[in-house]
Amino acid sequence: LPQPLIDGHGRPVHYLRLSVTDRCNLHCLYCRNLGRQQFIPHPQILRYEEIVRLVGLMSAGGVTKLRLTGGEPFVRRGCEHLLVMLRERFPQLDLRLTTNGTLLEPHVPLLGRLGLGAVNLSLDSFDRQTFAQVTGHDLLPAVLSALDALLAAGIRVKINAVAMRGINDRQLDDFIHAARSLPVDVRFIEFMPMGAGTHWSPESFWPAAEIFREVAARVALAPEQQVLRNAGPARMYRVLGGRGRLGFIAAVSNHFCASCNRLRLTCNGNLRTCLFDDHEYRLRGLLRHQACDDAQLARVLRLACLKKPVGAELLRNRPQGQAVAGTPMAAIGG
Ligand code: GTP
Ligand code: 5AD
Repeated sequence: LPQPLIDGHGRPVHYLRLSVTDRCNLHCLYCRNLGRQQFIPHPQILRYEEIVRLVGLMSAGGVTKLRLTGGEPFVRRGCEHLLVMLRERFPQLDLRLTTNGTLLEPHVPLLGRLGLGAVNLSLDSFDRQTFAQVTGHDLLPAVLSALDALLAAGIRVKINAVAMRGINDRQLDDFIHAARSLPVDVRFIEFMPMGAGTHWSPESFWPAAEIFREVAARVALAPEQQVLRNAGPARMYRVLGGRGRLGFIAAVSNHFCASCNRLRLTCNGNLRTCLFDDHEYRLRGLLRHQACDDAQLARVLRLACLKKPVGAELLRNRPQGQAVAGTPMAAIGG
């Protein structure tokens, strides 16, 4: 009988975030490494069959929720085939996707057929100029059109907005309007100091508690009950009289390490047990080694889990003003 994946702090693993590529067609100022843009060479990227094998092992270890991330997942050729393969092989998996939405619209009918649990859309501003400033590309109309298509197809949507002082902090009314008029979750994410050389600075950090106060001064909110397992890190509120919800992800100020249930797999096959810890376990070599069977791989996964740290401690103890992890978000997948 396969053994469940449980970490050294007694936290069971239910959720895998799988980055299918580190490439992205946007250059968001919270995600990219300013300056050099180096992508992982293709031979080092996990093949879809290798991904499916790992997902099988994780699923046997208790993973029930799988999220594809990037970079931007749809930048990788055949990403839709991977989704189909995963759905066919693991029909019981809660399959999800985080995307910037710019390449999404043609894929919406397929996503509808595959019955994704939700699509998380990175959308940091409803103002075209600000969107271009944040992402480096004037593509807001494409994202809004994909959003319409998702809703028309009846797919659940969560909007992720990285909250940045001096960038999108004057646009709360736009986000509130979206949560009021559309059946979506709009979630503000605290700007995390990830990857050396992003735009993160103490001045740009906008704490979730302050965003909440500013939002609550504008609109009546009713807290939603937290469903613990698979709930995700957001505190959600119903917008009274509206169709959607607003949420706050205090990724920096109010960590959720105690309930962390996730592993991350980078596109080159590194297992990352904590967002804030650059220590990664290189699985690609094992996957490609003839002599390494599933039992051995499963043992490596279990041992890695046992060493999963409590990331908030790493965040707290980092040198003043420095990033908590050297790896940029684009390579981790959020
Ligand atoms: P849901 O399951 O839909 O709630 O998704 P999610 O929040 O797990 O995934 P998503 O890709 O939408 O990520 C949203 C943001 O949550 C990420 O960018 C991070 O800012 C934050 N987040 C996700 N996982 C972690 C984590 O393990 N630690 C911290 N500190 N933040 C996280
Ligand atoms: N801080 C907070 N959120 C981030 N994301 C990417 N980089 C950062 C960061 N530095 C978010 C994106 C995406 C999610 C997966 O991660 O908005 O929606």
